[in-house]
Amino acid sequence: MEALALERRAEQNRELRERLLQLKKERNAIILAHYYQRDEIQEVADFRGDSFLLAQKAAETDADVIVFCGVHFMGESAKILAPNKIVLVPDERAGCPMADMVNPAGLRELKAKHPNAKVVTYINSSADVKAETDICCTSSNAVKVVNSIDAEEIIWCPDKNLGHWVQQQTGKKMIIWEGYCNTHDMLTLKDVVEMRAKYPNAQFVVHPECRPEVVAMADYVGSTTGILKYCRESDCKEFIVGTEDGTGYQLRLDSPDKTFHFASKYLVCPNMKVNNLKKVVRCLETMQPQIYVPEDVADKARLSLMRMLQVK
Ligand code: 13P
Ligand code: SF4
Repeated sequence: MEALALERRAEQNRELRERLLQLKKERNAIILAHYYQRDEIQEVADFRGDSFLLAQKAAETDADVIVFCGVHFMGESAKILAPNKIVLVPDERAGCPMADMVNPAGLRELKAKHPNAKVVTYINSSADVKAETDICCTSSNAVKVVNSIDAEEIIWCPDKNLGHWVQQQTGKKMIIWEGYCNTHDMLTLKDVVEMRAKYPNAQFVVHPECRPEVVAMADYVGSTTGILKYCRESDCKEFIVGTEDGTGYQLRLDSPDKTFHFASKYLVCPNMKVNNLKKVVRCLETMQPQIYVPEDVADKARLSLMRMLQVK
């Protein structure tokens, strides 16, 4: 971008940030942003986090309005956990294709085939699916959640890659749904082998939504928060990162002296990038789009989310 255009953009963003501060005060709002959001959104967030931390923040806040900058299921989880709050999203078209890979009817069919199994559902799922679930999990607590379950069999949905990793860590019998994340599943073994050859001193850190053969190559496997903590605390100065590129914002903030190479140029979630600063301001101005979850669905889904929040 040319210098003049860059300057204009910076000036626009300054104006947007000022307007946002004013609106936040007027509406008594907080801004929650996932680590995969654009830098311009992470910059203005009250809390940045992974799905688990943001769900906790939504459940605890005493603000009247939550602006959830992430994808649709995250806003929905916030509304379920904080039913009396207004939950806004910058753009309701920001969905998660993995969450759409499982539906309540399909899950009910599988439950009927395995009547003694308990259902563990990744938070990347719709409220309707959560309502059919015994307990939810995120990538940061999936192993703990599965280990906490007293059942012979576990139905796991929707992410097959995370399911495979959890099965390996826990040794539990799991019936695994065939969903996946289009972004993380794009990272191949060949990509990682090439990156390792190019950066021989770097450690490879990866999100468990990646393919099993990719995860098997990692020095560390964990949620976005786990990856951030590992890189922050490690003595290593160089990392190959196997998760969405928005994480770079916090990685560089935490460790300005370290170098981060994203493992593939395809590690960009187009759904997360639908949101931008302008839309964050606009949603607080218009108080739209809001997230609604029918009360009967929310009541059932809340149980599965609350059970997850109680796992220590
Ligand atoms: P985290 O739970 O690590 O935030 O991941 C959410 C997600 O959508 C990963 O693709
Ligand atoms: Fe969904 Fe994957 Fe995007 Fe996460 S990165 S929101 S799982 S599509």
